[in-house]
Parts: sequence; C-alpha cells; structure tokens
Amino acid sequence: QREYHIVVLGSGGVGKSCLTAQFVQNVWIESYDPTIEDSYRKAIMVDGRQVILEILDTAGTEQFSEELYMKTGQGFLLVFSITSMTSLHELAELRDQIIRIKDDMRVPIVLVGNKSDLEEDRAVSRARAFAVSQSWGGCPYYETSARRRANVDEVFTDLCRQIILK
Ligand code: GTP
Ligand code: MG
Repeated sequence: QREYHIVVLGSGGVGKSCLTAQFVQNVWIESYDPTIEDSYRKAIMVDGRQVILEILDTAGTEQFSEELYMKTGQGFLLVFSITSMTSLHELAELRDQIIRIKDDMRVPIVLVGNKSDLEEDRAVSRARAFAVSQSWGGCPYYETSARRRANVDEVFTDLCRQIILK
C-alpha cells in the first residue's frame, strides 16, 4: 500500500482548508477560521490503484514550521485566490523555498487558482496564472471552487499522479 504526503500551501484566506475539507469530507465551510495546522488521511483510487494521501493543511499566516513540512512533503498544492494578485505573487517565494529545501527542481507541484465562482471579483486572469505555471517548468494549473466543489478531486489526483510517476 502506497502512502503519499501532500502539503497545501498559500496565503491566509485563499481557501486551503475549504478545498481540503471538500476533498476529504465533502463539506463546504462558509465561516473563516484561520488554520494553525491540520492533517487528514484519505484513501483514493488513482488509475486503478489505491493510494493513501496524508494531507497537511497549513497556516497561511504564521509559517513557523514551514521547513519541516517541506522536508516531509512529496507533493505540494500551491493555492492562491483568483480575487487576489498578491496571493499569486506570494507563491513564488514559497515555490523557491520548496525547491531549495528539497534540493529538487522537479518536485511535484500543482498551481491552484481557487474561488473561481467569484468571477465578478477576478483580479488574476487565467492567462496570467497559466503563464506563471509555465514559468515554473510547466506545472499544471487548475481553477477550483471549493464552494461549488469544482475541480477539487482533479487537483489532488493530478498531484498524486505526478508523485507516482516521479
Ligand atoms: P488560513 O487557514 O488562514 O491560511 O486560510 P485558508 O486558506 O485555509 O482559507 P479558508 O479555507 O479558511 O477560507 C477562507 C474564506 O474563504 C472562508 O470564509 C471560505 O468560506 C472562503 N472560501 C474558500 N474557498 C472559497 C471558494 O472557492 N469560493 C468562495 N466564494 N469562497 C471561498
Ligand atoms: Mg486554513
């Protein structure tokens, strides 16, 4: 049985916990309760194989144990909100840190633009985010809505496939 460590990273309030809650428990959380650190386990089927995901939902604000997460993580969801350009910009630093700490340019990463249901408040175009993903060695880019549960399974599955293929 295969077990993979996934870490969900990004600025405060972008929807890391809501995405994780939708993926793991199929629930939508309306209220905002900043995370300290939570971990979840979920078994999924990927291409006919069962794998266990150990998911670490991190704090967007206080990032004290970051280095430790990055060491144990095998794949990273880098989440921003399509309503905040700053939240996209802040991911570049996180990605640099992951690559430095893991000493691996090809570490599995998926770039996630969350809150796609808030199209009227969009501040980051799809093209802009896609260009960032291309500049990151062509990592996959998805737009998700935790609220509508859109593309949620896809981001976790894609990341899991990348880890398996590595
Ligand atoms: P920290 O734990 O502080 O780092 O924040 P977080 O990234 O975990 O954000 P969280 O998932 O707690 O969501 C923050 C707020 O955004 C909550 O009020 C959510 O209801 C809202 N939110 C999250 N995802 C979505 C989404 O896809 N669409 C909309 N409209 N709101 C969302
Ligand atoms: Mg959270």
